[in-house]
Amino acid sequence: SSTSQQEFDYLFKLLLIGDSGVGKSTLLLSFTSNSFEELSPTIGNLSISSSYSLIIYVLELGIVKDLIFYAGVDFKIKYVTLGGKKLKLAIWDTAGQERFRTLTSSYYRGAQGIIMVYDVTRRETFTNLSDIWAKEIDLYLTNQNCIKMLVGNKVDKESERVVSKKEGIDFAREYGCLFLECSAKTRVNVEQCYEELVLKIL
Ligand code: GTP
Repeated sequence: SSTSQQEFDYLFKLLLIGDSGVGKSTLLLSFTSNSFEELSPTIGNLSISSSYSLIIYVLELGIVKDLIFYAGVDFKIKYVTLGGKKLKLAIWDTAGQERFRTLTSSYYRGAQGIIMVYDVTRRETFTNLSDIWAKEIDLYLTNQNCIKMLVGNKVDKESERVVSKKEGIDFAREYGCLFLECSAKTRVNVEQCYEELVLKIL
């Protein structure tokens, strides 16, 4: 059966952002599929199935002219029922690598939720969220009601942790966003990240 035919009450656009290697693609896949895969960096290599989903989505929204911006972006659709509503989630995964950073307001346009990801074992991925990513969000995000969620990933590597949970909580409080720690590898808290975000959007 074709999932593109499925019925839904709302279509939400969610974005994953953060430095290269923090685990954005893995967080996307561990939510939308059922296996942990070793991934290569996101460099605009859309798989055939996600290309198909992308075309359906673009046609639905009538944003064909923005297609040009989506090189360096991967894309997955997931249907969930939350809060008594059938939801179609379009989740966008960007390439964190500097040389692919061509994001503009087109990417942020219409986003209802943003997941800002850092790696609890690499401090610079945490500081870059406030130094680079939060500034870009403020610059390009036109939807003032967009809900943000800070996610500290890779908590399975507890012995290598350098960013404490308290630092995450403090940043989230200051920036006014939700916060969770998770492991895209073991799937601890992965569903919760998306669910808390979506329930807040609803
Ligand atoms: P870009 O596409 O370059 O922006 O990177 P990304 O943020 O999408 O990171 P990606 O998902 O490709 O993960 C980078 C590496 O971290 C891969 O080797 C993953 O297998 C690994 N990884 C991702 N999440 C976790 C996690 O929760 N725990 C551990 N131990 N490794 C993880």
